[in-house]
Amino acid sequence: VSTTLIIAIDGPAGSGKSTLGNALASRLALETLDTGASYRALAAAVLEAGIDPNDRGEVARFARDATIDPGRGHVINGKDYSARLRAEEVNQAVSVVAAIPEVREVLVGWQRRWVLAHGGGVVEGRDIGTVVFPDATIKLFLTAHPKVRARRRSLEGLASIERRDRLDSTRVTSPLGAAEDSWSIDTTALTVEDIVTMVIERLESQKQGSER
Ligand code: C5P
Repeated sequence: VSTTLIIAIDGPAGSGKSTLGNALASRLALETLDTGASYRALAAAVLEAGIDPNDRGEVARFARDATIDPGRGHVINGKDYSARLRAEEVNQAVSVVAAIPEVREVLVGWQRRWVLAHGGGVVEGRDIGTVVFPDATIKLFLTAHPKVRARRRSLEGLASIERRDRLDSTRVTSPLGAAEDSWSIDTTALTVEDIVTMVIERLESQKQGSER
């Protein structure tokens, strides 16, 4: 039985994954892994290489040949893409790139190695509870009212986040969705502290249950 603490957080854009993830990580002294950042960095690198994001074969080849820094998923082929992760062209391309199975295979492998090397962590994305860590200690699936999500992503805009959510939810490989054993939390009207308290309580009662 694994005692490694892995907290999986999934949900659509602007549902509050990073905010909750960071708060939980500091409470539990864990590190956080924002898996969206490496999908974004890979999309930025694909664009920079002059590859059409819709060219599945070329993108798959690029992903397979890419070197991703073991500790920093936004560093690809030695280049740091952190300043470009939220660029408009990346918002447009990322869900197209992320739908390609070979891209997911490469990044999921990297994510599993990262968590192994860090002895657990708070991992947020779209397929963490369903595909990447189906045995996570706890799986959270966050939702929020579209108006609230749009406000949290005001730079990107509602139309763009809804397009990404549609692409992410309808793709064939690892679509965005709640794992059967995940806990769905609507973050629209809750504070971060409320949710942290709820999650810590549930983790503690799970732990007592398993010790009994
Ligand atoms: O989390 P963030 O909004 O930065 O993610 C950007 C995009 O990366 C998502 O819209 C999705 O297409 C992709 N993604 C994914 N699987 C993950 C994390 C992100 O497909 N685990």
